[in-house]
Amino acid sequence: MSNAVITGSASGFGRALALALARRGGWKILIADINQAGMEETLAMVRKAGGDGEIFECDVSQPEKVQSMADYVFSKWGKVDLLINNAGVVSCGFVGDIPLQDWHWCVDINFWGMLYGCHSFIPPMKAQGGGHIINVGSSAGLLSLMEMAPYNITKAAVISLSETMRQELVQHKIGVTVACPMFFNTHLLDNMRYQNDFQSKFAHSAFEHGRLTAEEVAEKTIRSYEKNKLYVIPQFIGKYYWVLKRLSPSIFYGVISYVVKKGYGEKMALLMTRIRMM
Ligand SMILES: NC(=O)c1ccc[n+]([C@@H]2O[C@H](COP(=O)([O-])OP(=O)(O)OC[C@H]3O[C@@H](n4cnc5c(N)ncnc54)[C@H](O)[C@@H]3O)[C@@H](O)[C@H]2O)c1
Repeated sequence: MSNAVITGSASGFGRALALALARRGGWKILIADINQAGMEETLAMVRKAGGDGEIFECDVSQPEKVQSMADYVFSKWGKVDLLINNAGVVSCGFVGDIPLQDWHWCVDINFWGMLYGCHSFIPPMKAQGGGHIINVGSSAGLLSLMEMAPYNITKAAVISLSETMRQELVQHKIGVTVACPMFFNTHLLDNMRYQNDFQSKFAHSAFEHGRLTAEEVAEKTIRSYEKNKLYVIPQFIGKYYWVLKRLSPSIFYGVISYVVKKGYGEKMALLMTRIRMM
């Protein structure tokens, strides 16, 4: 039996990741979240799909809660083969308009939550002789598109943290994978904080027209973990933009800035979602 811990698994991507493991057979999953009803639903689905597990209420922005979750699972289950730091939220707006409390909310969950997971689980994983950590980043952390700064910076930090850990943990036989999906439909927008109607309209349109489902993104992520890959960028369009940006960041941001300067930014962004280029 292999053991996994997945934060934010009461819904969306976390739930889909739990089911992708359950379908493989032989997995026991600690479903961690702040949403009790959602966790119970996920556990029932995991059992139906061939897995087993438990639920554990854990607010990842509270370091002592994350530490008590690690203490609980290692003492009760003996080992953790896979930790998935997935819980996340989104805050949009222009820098200068976004209230500082929204910055803190996003950074506390998306960055500090992931870091607390790594901090509490790495020492016992080293002691057990190996394991794997998947950190859920986003293409937002690779592309830094406008009006999403709090989300972008947390996801860029998660990518950098994962790249660092990949090198540091190799001699301890702990693999590290960072998932960087583009938009796909989940409940992420239910709690999204934004500053104007366009930001909400754009995000909803991108979710509605996403090229992959949460199940497809989860399946690609688990396959990348099985192959011990560092990056998983599940949608082709995400890979395409990443390559374009890396070839010439100045041209990449120059083209976007030109379109925005000419006053076509919002129209173009919405069009890109509708033709499924986001
Ligand atoms: N949906 C997308 O388009 C997309 C794209 C790239 C990356 N992601 C990332 O995927 C991850 C999962 O998001 P999702 O899209 O499935 O959204 P979701 O809202 O469906 O799931 C997020 C889960 O995290 C939980 N959560 C929120 N705050 C928490 C906290 N403080 N402690 C513990 N749990 C908490 C929520 O209760 C929810 O169950 C996030 O990190 C998100 O940034 C999503």
